[in-house]
Amino acid sequence: MLSLRENILLGTGSGHVFLIDDSHEKPERIIGRKLSVLLCYLLTAPSEEACREALQQAGICYSKEEIRKLEIYFIKKFPGAFSQGSNEGSQRHGAVAKMRIESGSCQNDRLSFFRLDYPVHLIYVPTWRCNRSCRYCGVPKTRDGEKIPEDLLIERLTEASKKGLQKLDIHGGEPLYYAFEKTEHLVAAMKQAEVKTYVSTKNLVTAEMAERLRKAGLDCIQLSLDTIDTSQAQMLGYPDGYLDFFNRSLENIRRENIPISVNVVVSQENEKGLEKLLTFLKEKNIEMITLSPLRKTDKVGLHEVKEEKKEYLNQKLSKFGMRIPVSEPGQRPICEAGRNGFLILPNGECAFCDFIADLPEFRFGDIKTSTVEEIWNDPKLLELTFPSKERLAEKCRSCEQNEICRSRGFCYVNQDFRGKVKEDRFCLKGWGR
Ligand SMILES: C[S@@+](CC[C@H](N)C(=O)[O-])C[C@H]1O[C@@H](n2cnc3c(N)ncnc32)[C@H](O)[C@@H]1O
Ligand code: SF4
Ligand code: SF4
Repeated sequence: MLSLRENILLGTGSGHVFLIDDSHEKPERIIGRKLSVLLCYLLTAPSEEACREALQQAGICYSKEEIRKLEIYFIKKFPGAFSQGSNEGSQRHGAVAKMRIESGSCQNDRLSFFRLDYPVHLIYVPTWRCNRSCRYCGVPKTRDGEKIPEDLLIERLTEASKKGLQKLDIHGGEPLYYAFEKTEHLVAAMKQAEVKTYVSTKNLVTAEMAERLRKAGLDCIQLSLDTIDTSQAQMLGYPDGYLDFFNRSLENIRRENIPISVNVVVSQENEKGLEKLLTFLKEKNIEMITLSPLRKTDKVGLHEVKEEKKEYLNQKLSKFGMRIPVSEPGQRPICEAGRNGFLILPNGECAFCDFIADLPEFRFGDIKTSTVEEIWNDPKLLELTFPSKERLAEKCRSCEQNEICRSRGFCYVNQDFRGKVKEDRFCLKGWGR
């Protein structure tokens, strides 16, 4: 059985696992989402047999041999952190015992205050322009402004890769339609710098685009699809022929062997069609599917799935080994903004979160004039991540829970902010909902 070596603790944030050296309590190594779940099973199951059964129940079928290979993989990939054999003397019953696994997510209170010394995950928005008009689109429809010069952006990100940057997500807008060459060049440069690149799109990925992105070294394309039902599609603002686009994109991307993930935004408008959609996606052998609850902003005309309904839906989705994340008001960090990374806008300015990137209160730094490291240490970003007590609005400041909320961070989407941090949708007292 796999166990942690002495002094190595485990913590999680937003589904990722961090290995921490207890002597200085700093998250040192980060383990991706999917592997994190497997690691949690490997470390918490009382026996190998129990681990195998648990993995099968969760819809992740691993044989004994596969489990052994995984253990060896972890030991090699994170030297000094794990050992194989007895759990005696390890931290297994300490930090790991605190961890809770909920088919697909895991958590540990210990790391609520975590913040990496250097960002490992940046999101770049090459353009806000988009040819679609999804009714749930929560990103700002603002102008791009004067674009950051490509060479300078590559220089900054390459420098960041030497210090810790591991992943670059290219979002939008529609990056493949309005910034294809820029995306292609950036992917190629990041390949050189050994940074993984992911592109999100909802449009047709043509054979030529897929071939060029494969040659540039893209690691994954995220397609978005929320329904295969025509009437729901109309309600979501999808254009005619959207499913044909999706199928053709899939074919073109597969031909180039680029890994694919599909993101599904779940709202009241498509919740009824979820089983049908997931059956369709599973039949297409999509490697990775994520379910994102709709983020309701004042720009979005649709409705969030009610929290109590999510449990009911999750029972139905268990046969796919999937869950819609439930908004837990608990202690864990509520998102990665400011802890793992931040967002770079088309003009080089940086922002906390794409849904509120148009509001100056949530922007800081500028890649045109500062390095990634300087921006990471910008006091405005630090203050947004862990707001000082003086910044809390009266209700939060006088609340006995404010330390818990400051550590898990605040969600600013839909907050009537005006310089003061207020109770949010994760408020333990339910005031911000
Ligand atoms: C902002 S889009 C950019 C890339 C591309 N235009 C697309 O739609 O895939 C990135 C992801 O955010 C999702 N998204 C957009 N608005 C959302 C909202 N209000 N709540 C949750 N997810 C949303 C999209 O479905 C997509 O999967
Ligand atoms: S969700 Fe994506 S495709 Fe839809 S309007 Fe927004 S940016 Fe465009
Ligand atoms: S968000 Fe709610 S629970 Fe948290 S400090 Fe403010 S009032 Fe208290």
